Amino acid sequence: MKKIYKYIISPTCILTSLFAVLAQITFAQTVTIPVETANNALVLQVDKGKDVNTVYFGTKLANAAEYDQVTGVYKQFCVCNGTGDYTGLLSSAYTPSGSRNLAEPAITVTHADGNNSLDLKYVSHNVTKISDDVSLLSIVLKDPVYDFEVTLYYKSYFKNDVIEQWSVIKHHEKGNVTLNKFASANLYLKAKSFWLRQYHGDWGKEMQPEETRITHGIKTIDTKLGARANLFEPSVFMVSFDKPATEDEGNVLYGAMEWSGNFRVDLELDPLDNLKIIAGINNFASAYTLKPGEDFTTPAFLYTFSDKGKGDASRKLQSWARNYKLMDGKGSRLTLLNNWESTFFDFNESRLSGLLQDTKKLGVDLFLLDDGWFANKYPRNDDHAGLGDWQENRKKLPNGIASLVKEAQNDGVKFGIWIEPEMVNPKSRLYETHPDWVIKQPKRDEYYYRNQLVLDLSNPQVQDFVFSIVDSLFIKSPGLAYIKWDCNAVIYNAYSAHLQNQSHLYIEYVRGLYKVLERVRAKYPAVPMMLCSGGGGRVDYAALQYFTEFWPSDNTEPMERIFIQWEYSYFYPALISANHVTDWGKQPIKFRTDVAMMGRLGFDIPVSKLSGNDLQFCQEAVKTYNTVKQIIFQGEQYRLSDPREQSVASVMYVDSVKTSGVIFNYLVNNRFDEGSKLPIRLKGLDPVKKYTIKEINLYPGIVSPIDSAKSYSGDFLMRIGFNPEVNAGRTSVVLQINESR
Ligand code: DGJ
Repeated sequence: MKKIYKYIISPTCILTSLFAVLAQITFAQTVTIPVETANNALVLQVDKGKDVNTVYFGTKLANAAEYDQVTGVYKQFCVCNGTGDYTGLLSSAYTPSGSRNLAEPAITVTHADGNNSLDLKYVSHNVTKISDDVSLLSIVLKDPVYDFEVTLYYKSYFKNDVIEQWSVIKHHEKGNVTLNKFASANLYLKAKSFWLRQYHGDWGKEMQPEETRITHGIKTIDTKLGARANLFEPSVFMVSFDKPATEDEGNVLYGAMEWSGNFRVDLELDPLDNLKIIAGINNFASAYTLKPGEDFTTPAFLYTFSDKGKGDASRKLQSWARNYKLMDGKGSRLTLLNNWESTFFDFNESRLSGLLQDTKKLGVDLFLLDDGWFANKYPRNDDHAGLGDWQENRKKLPNGIASLVKEAQNDGVKFGIWIEPEMVNPKSRLYETHPDWVIKQPKRDEYYYRNQLVLDLSNPQVQDFVFSIVDSLFIKSPGLAYIKWDCNAVIYNAYSAHLQNQSHLYIEYVRGLYKVLERVRAKYPAVPMMLCSGGGGRVDYAALQYFTEFWPSDNTEPMERIFIQWEYSYFYPALISANHVTDWGKQPIKFRTDVAMMGRLGFDIPVSKLSGNDLQFCQEAVKTYNTVKQIIFQGEQYRLSDPREQSVASVMYVDSVKTSGVIFNYLVNNRFDEGSKLPIRLKGLDPVKKYTIKEINLYPGIVSPIDSAKSYSGDFLMRIGFNPEVNAGRTSVVLQINESR
């Protein structure tokens, strides 16, 4: 009190008080714009200077009128001068640069006259109700000096607490404007501390998590790879508020860029200890020349928030994805036999006929023919040649794909095919005929990733070519039932023979890809397609609008897969996780199959070499899977026991009415006597319902110790738990839980 009194009589203080009064007088002129979802609120406010600021982000308040009071209770400034934000822009909803700003901007431009300054003032806002669940807020901002405007869009999905945010930039200046940075979104968060869970990886090592406290300055997650862009860093991340969130506790935001090329996410802990997140296309080598009257629409940045921990946040995101984003998100998926690891490039018609028989024998829906079926002048017999020449190899397949598709149909199975249409081997007719279609520097040595180069999808002729690869496959074989779309190289020596402006290449590449995918989907709306990038090097929610599943990793060693699938599951539903049983690793076939069942099940093993029991197990497993797959695809997922913390990993899927579920349990620590010593607490059940639990997917001849006649209340199973009896002799245990009647 004394301190305040002393302060009040100082001249600075008189000024400060005056300012406070003034602020109160003008308070009535502020406009508060809340974006509310079922549980959360992002609250924006237009201040007296017409700057749009973020005043709140988090769990929504019971009384919306109180958002106006939020900023008043934060005293994150120096009492000596009553401020700390020397710019008045730190909490900007879209931070401009070149005027007052001193922090990381959302947008930087060079105007037609060469001036680099930008300020963005509120003009208007509008809310459109798209459906009962979905609303779209737009806020128009304009520079008072230049005829330059940005419209911010916030698409909110009420039930799932998800927001997609993007911006549209345009101008009417007397010449072109250069956009040097052009973010999709700019968030501003307050908490005692922030914890970032980010991911890194490489081929076979996707989704390796790292969790650290965010310190002052800027942390950037980005990629500059152009294609296969997420190879080293995917664009998904989590930020926990106050302390690292656990599965069931804590405040946590999940963020993801919906962009299949270079992205950039800046996380800046500012001088006031608040966190600014600026996410968008990576502006690296990508200054964009915008003509007068032209719109530049950024891709969306997607986020959700939960105050109930990581599990709740991921269930919201998974549900949103199935409801709104994924191609066929509410549908089912095909089981399959892939030939990649059993044959690699070495096959012919008679070998494939055998595999079609194996597909039938196994009981899966589809046979997927992988790499190696095409090219004649430079046959695709290994990964050095042929990519780009999409004609059937006459030696391997004298009767073409169409006859194989028919043969499959006669065998009662479907037929799918692998393509990698964006790429070219220098040893190919395509490269010889159209060297100008290839991304490469005209005067420099070529540099290869997996002996191949990337086609220039900014060029409409190349787009036509890529579309025609898919189209002609379907024209020749209308019965074709599935496409695996691969993408194994990054962009080196970024240069387009087509583009005038080279700094547009990374952006136009992705736009070109989406144009092709739009055409594919317009003509073939229902065909299932796998998004593959030598593993998960490309998965993101923009691409997933066109694909029905993705390939998480070439690493199918099941122990590794438990960890990889676990991390992906925070952001993507099991429905789209393509998991194959292969011969990677030393785990028994049951362990491998159980792990692959936690998503879309497939096999990539030489079926003919399976022992009698292994084959019988696989056949039974496919049948069992067919009875529970809808729960895995469409149910709620609960991560029960974390392989990074416990000796047993456990993941559960429960249907929406809480009557049935499946629980997968694995021993992930093979030290002496490790196992499920404690019961594992189940989640997502109805406490008053009674349940029975039985072990499924048993290997032939194995008798389960689990007593399936016993009944437990949901309350018991969620408070005390259930012991799957995982130990060195039972390393993988799948349980089915059903309401007992
Ligand atoms: C990389 C994929 O991840 C594999 O599954 C396989 O399709 C190969 N490409 C084929 O070249």
